[in-house]
Amino acid sequence: VAVAPICVEDFRRLAREKLAPDVWDYIEGGSGGELTVAANRRAFERAELRPRVMVDVSTCPTGTELLGTHLSAPLGVAPTAYHELAHADGEVGTAHGAGTAGVLYVVGMFASRTLEEIAAAATGPLWLQLYWLRRRDVLADLAARAVTAGYRALVLTVDAPRIGRRLRDLRNGFGVDPDVDAANLDADLMATTHRRRTGESAIAVHAAETFDASLTWADLAWLRGLTALPIVLKGILTGEDARRAVDHGVDGLIVSNHGGRQLDPTTPSLHALAEVVAAVDGACPVLVDGGVRGGTDVFTALAVGASTVLIGRPVLWALAHDGGPGVAGLFALLREELEHTMALAGRPRLADIDRAAVRLDRRG
Ligand SMILES: Cc1cc2nc3c(=O)[nH]c(=O)nc-3n(C[C@H](O)[C@H](O)[C@H](O)COP(=O)(O)O)c2cc1C
Repeated sequence: VAVAPICVEDFRRLAREKLAPDVWDYIEGGSGGELTVAANRRAFERAELRPRVMVDVSTCPTGTELLGTHLSAPLGVAPTAYHELAHADGEVGTAHGAGTAGVLYVVGMFASRTLEEIAAAATGPLWLQLYWLRRRDVLADLAARAVTAGYRALVLTVDAPRIGRRLRDLRNGFGVDPDVDAANLDADLMATTHRRRTGESAIAVHAAETFDASLTWADLAWLRGLTALPIVLKGILTGEDARRAVDHGVDGLIVSNHGGRQLDPTTPSLHALAEVVAAVDGACPVLVDGGVRGGTDVFTALAVGASTVLIGRPVLWALAHDGGPGVAGLFALLREELEHTMALAGRPRLADIDRAAVRLDRRG
């Protein structure tokens, strides 16, 4: 009997049935020993919620504001590449789904649909994620197109001077399906992403050729000079870097270890979040991603101080399962689970989800 997914893990199982093994590995895998992938989950699994009782929880609204934009819940789509690998509708499906659910969608630089097509399909807020390319003219062009198409922020991913050693991709000789392209970038710039060679990841080879590993704090001024859009840094894991980012006037931070796909082992997102929130001390919104697989995880991240929580792999699972409606269903589920947790934890408003609402296990 086909049963509609009733938890995030159900989407994972449904997606696995649909995806080719090498695409599944590309999505699911991490780098190195995949220790960080596991640690991201373990950190949430070890959190204990501390309920308050005798609190009026007859309504628990989840709506919030992020950088001046209303969201139905403090949730969003983390930037991921090539959604057409998961479903023929690609990022257009994701935009429909995220818009229907009223959540943020951070579009990946390596989207397989154009920024303009995605914007036309979106009914909710969009941000655009960028990697630091040697070809600065390409970054400038993308930023200008993002402004015209109505994107509301630029997200610079700063944890990827090169690609982590993702052993599954190396073993599979992974290359992007020739029918799926990075629709916003010239084909000549992207040619190597399709190359399949044993022992090689085409994604890693491509990044080695095109990413600029010389990026430092001083370069932020150049990006700032391109547009008046807010600039958000993704991939911050320490209080030191968070302070530095605030000193450089960034508008937001995304605490992330890239879903365990870059440095491995490293700090699980939830623990890094606590450190970053303390360092930032309210100077800008702090978002987080990595290992969030249910409404209780969202609640935990909010208690530790996240403004909004981004979802990576589960969005691709939902897209693979059922396109845009799948993505809308995933976020409706997460929103309902969050609302349910707020009620049972005696925190009827987002502002009530304080640090005392969760006890994080000590590390080790
Ligand atoms: C298949 C895949 C592709 C990704 N592509 C990008 C990308 O293009 N840019 C980026 O900043 N992060 C990328 N990420 C990282 C995500 O934005 C996010 O940090 C991570 O998936 C969150 O962890 P989760 O998958 O456990 O939710 C990718 C992640 C996956 C799984």
